[in-house]
Amino acid sequence: MLDQSNVIIDVHVHTQDPEAIKEEIRDGLLSTPKKFPTKYFYDDWGSTLFEQICELPEYYQTRTEHQLLEAVADDIVAKTGADELVELGSGAATKTRVLLDAMARAKQLRFYVPFDVSEGIVRRVAQELVEEYEGLLVHGVVGDFLAHLEHIPDGGRRLVVILGGTIGNLELEASQVFLSSIYDEMDQGDFFLLGVQLITDVDRLEAAYNDSAGITAAFNKNMLRVLQSVIGAEFDQDAFQHVARFNHDKHRIEMHLRSIRDQVIPIPELDLNLHLHEGEEILTEISTKYTRHQVEALLTGAGFSPVEWYSDSNHLHGLALAKKR
Ligand code: AVJ
Repeated sequence: MLDQSNVIIDVHVHTQDPEAIKEEIRDGLLSTPKKFPTKYFYDDWGSTLFEQICELPEYYQTRTEHQLLEAVADDIVAKTGADELVELGSGAATKTRVLLDAMARAKQLRFYVPFDVSEGIVRRVAQELVEEYEGLLVHGVVGDFLAHLEHIPDGGRRLVVILGGTIGNLELEASQVFLSSIYDEMDQGDFFLLGVQLITDVDRLEAAYNDSAGITAAFNKNMLRVLQSVIGAEFDQDAFQHVARFNHDKHRIEMHLRSIRDQVIPIPELDLNLHLHEGEEILTEISTKYTRHQVEALLTGAGFSPVEWYSDSNHLHGLALAKKR
């Protein structure tokens, strides 16, 4: 039976200033090239589509990280002594269970803090986990981890994790700022685990974002539906094409929505008409791939001391463990 007293959920997304939300989207549409904030992939349906992406044969990332975590979770738990796991961008928390299992084996598991923009998934995961792990306390935070980091509850011996390569969604400068603000929120002695996708051959990378089942395309286009509810714009999904390709200079996959025709989309809430010409692309996501060296430079730049580097035998994925001394 579920003991509700073991679950707390704080919701911060709806407290966001509607004007700030509009400003952010507006700024993106006025920049060159046009772009949409990546977080608008993740309504509940978008999160479901992302879970399907993780199962795709072409999307090797999730499987690779999962196996890597299986191999190293006990070592991470031993090195950190953590009794509390804070996960930024927790999603369905599938890989999280590998870490929670290792903490439980070490008799250290006490507290889990899932932090995600998608309210439905935070609630679902919180319920599932208190049922699966006896005595576990779950304090979920529904928010934008770029804006609401200060809402991470104070805790014990914390291990803060960002898995899956989520950090790769940020421009390099923004990721440096983000890691610094995580560092500031942490206590001395806390550990940080960062999962990153490593640079590998372009064919493999591009295939992972152009799956034959079309799930990634649906995930990309779902943003148009999400934005409709946020800013009231009526996009015709059929007027857009999914495009994902590797940017060699910036070693990242870039996903776009490409307009298949000239079109004008009125967005009264933003006080603008969005003009798109045939073939014009709106950037919806960057997914940066790293080298170990780049990751450790980011971590030390934020103030962390690198503790350990883990990688799979094909060097597709990395897990960097660091400490706030
Ligand atoms: C959740 C950001 C790690 O960039 O690979 C998957 C998102 N986008 N397919 C990634 C994503 C398209 C994913 N991250």
